[in-house]
Amino acid sequence: MRMGKLLKVERLNAGYKLKSATVHAVRDVSFELKEGEFLGIAGESGCGKSTLAFGIVRLLTPPGEIFSGKVEFDGKDLLKMEEEELRRERWKEFSIVFQASMNVLNPVMKVKDQIIDAITYHTNDYDGHLEERAKELLSLVNVSEKYLNAYPHQLSGGMKQRVVIATALALNPKMIIMDEPTTALDVVVQKKILQEIDGLRKKFGFSIIFITHDLSLLVEISDTIAIMYAGSIVEKAASKRLYDNPLHPYTEGLMNSFPPLVGKRKRLHGIAGRPPDLSREMNGCPFYERCTKRIEGVCEREIPKLKEVEPGHTVACHLYDEEGESDAD
Ligand SMILES: Nc1ncnc2c1ncn2[C@@H]1O[C@H](COP(=O)(O)OP(=O)(O)O)[C@@H](O)[C@H]1O
Ligand code: SF4
Ligand SMILES: [Mg+2]
Repeated sequence: MRMGKLLKVERLNAGYKLKSATVHAVRDVSFELKEGEFLGIAGESGCGKSTLAFGIVRLLTPPGEIFSGKVEFDGKDLLKMEEEELRRERWKEFSIVFQASMNVLNPVMKVKDQIIDAITYHTNDYDGHLEERAKELLSLVNVSEKYLNAYPHQLSGGMKQRVVIATALALNPKMIIMDEPTTALDVVVQKKILQEIDGLRKKFGFSIIFITHDLSLLVEISDTIAIMYAGSIVEKAASKRLYDNPLHPYTEGLMNSFPPLVGKRKRLHGIAGRPPDLSREMNGCPFYERCTKRIEGVCEREIPKLKEVEPGHTVACHLYDEEGESDAD
């Protein structure tokens, strides 16, 4: 398996400058993605997942903007790239499946034309046979070729989403970012599509960033999981490790909010309280108000930094500070 670095996000800050306030939706986010890796990003609605996804590929539109940071993809600095060059990179190098994107299929266009359109829109130099390619792509996502000439309203939700995924695969990208691609579907269909996507990843070797508010979807499939809270990554580890040994109190809370994969069902409890307003400046841990393990006098005064506590396992929480490390006051 190839394991080179494909994407490196460094201290990315992004959000929305409104008249009344600035929403700081992505706060100092850093992470790396390897070639062929499946990274899941999970966090509650409103924690900045979509802003992060759009920010990475520079698709934020006003009032959204990137405030600072660096995004390196395959050795190229995406944030410094000219618009034209970036347009060429998109889809060939990486593609995106948006939240609710199955609703963006054109209702009066046949399935095959939607796929062909996606290919010709993103590249002028495709030299294969477009209709053949559309057929091939449909079969990759397990949609029968008899639907090539169908219109979107003739497809189920799951099939529409598969067509959208087919368009994202069209030019063999190195990375696909999926922002809650299956949220509108029922859980069984979601899991099935996710497994199929994973099969395609193993076959073609692309990397995936799969974004969801539902951590339980990720634990069995992703290699690594990053937990986002209030605009920041608060913990990241190999999936199994995070499941067996969640360190951040928020991750622990999330893990307790869904049934265990194996063994006895335990009583589920959600996390009391609400996440902070992202237009507020934060001086301490963003989870402070909801945290049952908070250290008074430390946690509300100092933003915990992400640090590696065991190989490949990072967490941003003062519970894991070394003795005497806190420099509050
Ligand atoms: N177009 C926008 N204008 C202003 N605020 C926005 C806009 N889009 C998102 N936000 C705010 O940014 C924060 C993060 O949103 P988002 O990235 O969509 O979170 P998620 O995808 O995790 O649900 C939220 O507080 C949301 O209200
Ligand atoms: S830093 Fe403090 S408040 Fe924040 S999660 Fe850790 S213990 Fe809780
Ligand atoms: Mg979102």
